[in-house]
Amino acid sequence: MGSLPNHPPLKTLHSPKPFFPFAAKHLAMNLKPIGVIHSPYKTRAEAPFQGRPSEEVSEVEVFDEFLPGLADVEGCTHLFLLYWLDRADRKVLKAFPPHDGKEHGVFATRSPNRPNPIGLGIVDLVGVAGGRLRVRGLDALEGTPLLDIKPYFSEVDSIPDASVGWRNGGESKRNDGR
Ligand SMILES: C[S@@+](CC[C@H](N)C(=O)[O-])C[C@H]1O[C@@H](n2cnc3c(N)ncnc32)[C@H](O)[C@@H]1O
Repeated sequence: MGSLPNHPPLKTLHSPKPFFPFAAKHLAMNLKPIGVIHSPYKTRAEAPFQGRPSEEVSEVEVFDEFLPGLADVEGCTHLFLLYWLDRADRKVLKAFPPHDGKEHGVFATRSPNRPNPIGLGIVDLVGVAGGRLRVRGLDALEGTPLLDIKPYFSEVDSIPDASVGWRNGGESKRNDGR
């Protein structure tokens, strides 16, 4: 695996010794769901591979103890949702995305099966009532635990010329030097 175009080799950038006394490798995360997703999809086969182009509306239930965190969310047109793909296979490191049916490393794909099965969706916020958000464009199954909600900032989160090499039939086109 080589370095990206215009990038120095990683080893020259950072010390190989961990700064913190506990190596990151052994850290256990304690994630607490902030809510649960209610969607029309009961099985994996029913859900779209990416929800973004879908017109289907899902409902996101936020648990009572987290409701103060929803203040001002109603003013957002689009949100990032992070969810725990609880029915995924966490042992998988290779995936065959439907895009080309070839094998790729999971970290170069959006496969639900991966060591830490965190789903990422950008959704349209359709409405907010009480602790419930109605959102369009999600691919999560009914009962999927919700981990976080963040506003989508178009001025920083949109990268119109971004590309993924294997989807273009070749290497990444990135050569901007960053
Ligand atoms: C390809 S993943 C993409 C997820 C997210 N949009 C992302 O990019 O991180 C979406 C697929 O995950 C599967 N899926 C949805 N909810 C799931 C869950 N709770 N557990 C396991 N698989 C799930 C469905 O088959 C759906 O088509």
